[in-house]
Amino acid sequence: MSDRRNTPNANQADGSTTGSGAPAPSDRNSLTIGADGPILLHDVHFLEQMAHFNREKVPERQPHAKGAGAFGVFETTEDVSAYTKAALFQKGVSTEMLARFSTVAGEMGSPDTWRDVRGFSLKFYTSEGNYDLVGNNTPVFFVRDPMKFPHFIRSQKRLPDSGLRDNHMQWDFWTNNPESAHQVTYLMGERGLPRTWRHMNGYGSHTYMWISATGEKFWVKYHFHTEQGMEFFSNQEAEAMSGADADFHRRDLFEAIQHGEHPSWVLSVQVMPYAEAKTYRINPFDLTKTWPHADYPLIKVGRMTLNRNPENFFAQIEQAAFSPGNTVPGIGLSPDKMLLGRAFAYNDAQRNRIGTNFHQLPVNQPKVPMNTYMFDGQMAYHHSGNAPVYVPNSGDRSWADNTGPVADGWESDGEMVRSAYTLRSNDDDFGQPGILVREVFNDAQRARLVDQVAGALGGVREPVLGRAFEYWKNIDAEVGQRIEEIVRTGSGTKPAEGMGEG
Ligand code: HEM
Repeated sequence: MSDRRNTPNANQADGSTTGSGAPAPSDRNSLTIGADGPILLHDVHFLEQMAHFNREKVPERQPHAKGAGAFGVFETTEDVSAYTKAALFQKGVSTEMLARFSTVAGEMGSPDTWRDVRGFSLKFYTSEGNYDLVGNNTPVFFVRDPMKFPHFIRSQKRLPDSGLRDNHMQWDFWTNNPESAHQVTYLMGERGLPRTWRHMNGYGSHTYMWISATGEKFWVKYHFHTEQGMEFFSNQEAEAMSGADADFHRRDLFEAIQHGEHPSWVLSVQVMPYAEAKTYRINPFDLTKTWPHADYPLIKVGRMTLNRNPENFFAQIEQAAFSPGNTVPGIGLSPDKMLLGRAFAYNDAQRNRIGTNFHQLPVNQPKVPMNTYMFDGQMAYHHSGNAPVYVPNSGDRSWADNTGPVADGWESDGEMVRSAYTLRSNDDDFGQPGILVREVFNDAQRARLVDQVAGALGGVREPVLGRAFEYWKNIDAEVGQRIEEIVRTGSGTKPAEGMGEG
């Protein structure tokens, strides 16, 4: 079904219309007094064209500005009803969906192949309303408190004076926030340069809650494994591609789908029984940590396939509005502070970026009937006629009025504090990145990591440089030593500077 109301004519003789639908006089010549004379103010069509042109951009997303996406379907192939009652995750259910992939730090025109984390945003148009899962191609994140997020993003973007990106600023932030070590290790490894979006995994990253039909609660982490296989670029390949085709990832996805190669991912979840969260040796709500698969093995759920390109990039991708706050019955948030911060941030960003009624746009509107008391405002299109606009009302319009315990709620710890999570036995910042470097990376991957980090330290000054060596020695003494040697002696095969872009 097409969302289009603007219907281009194939036959030139049919002409075009004004915004009000009347035949337009000319899209080629403005109205003047004589061929060489001044333009007339009553050439309304000309004025309309000029004025609209000045307004045809919306602000780009603050982070994750450069991206693209496609539509598809999610099919639940397994029975996970013991864990969630969510309609989309019942065996045999197919749900229409939209995916958008992105880089984090670059602007709208930046190259797709700069080293960076990649966004992995999904919108499921379920029979119970839209469910959004807004994740990344890594299972963890740089910080664990949302207060730090704007500072983190600014440190990865541009200097206030020159407008340039800056390794020194990036490492200053990372080394002053050692909880970044796990994600920085992923970023400096192969995940920082996926070959294409089709060849990367996606993660919900946060811990979410699932609630079964009997009211039992679980904590879950989402893993989307690519069925195309994981593939990566080397620094040299990525750098060359940044120049040759800045839109390489965007092009790759669009052309693959155009040619009938429909990329797919298998969704599995790790499930933690509700009560275990209190005693597990890792704080399960800390976004800088993964859950070892030995403790919480993957449970398969279904498959996502992208099979339809957007008809119009602006209407369907640029105006797409994802939010981790968009959940459906059977799925809830968790005490992860980052997730709670995000629950506010996105819809607010979209009210600013797209407009008050962004949820009424075809790409964002749910496929189910709506009965919302958010009404009027700029560009209001959907309305509720003469139905009451307040609750409670004595008319025949229903409203929500749940009271008592919240199905997807959790107990609070007690007194109000400002504090990091209480540390548990396995909650140090460097333990998991150390395991990643020693036990997951092989010798060749470790060698590339050492070279990559040494290169990314180009231009970093004291005292940040010394802190960066300590940071890596804390992750792994030998790796840290090798990085320091290369930087201090200038030896080793350093990748190009400017690659540690986060
Ligand atoms: C407190 C922390 C965070 C805040 C305040 C935040 C805020 C934002 C904002 C304002 C946007 C732009 C939204 C828009 O204009 O439509 C955005 C985009 C995005 N963020 Fe976050 N973010 C946070 C953490 C994260 C984390 C932890 C992840 C991944 C696990 C993530 C993944 C994304 C993705 C994928 C997008 C692009 C969405 C799209 O494709 O439209 N963010 N973020």
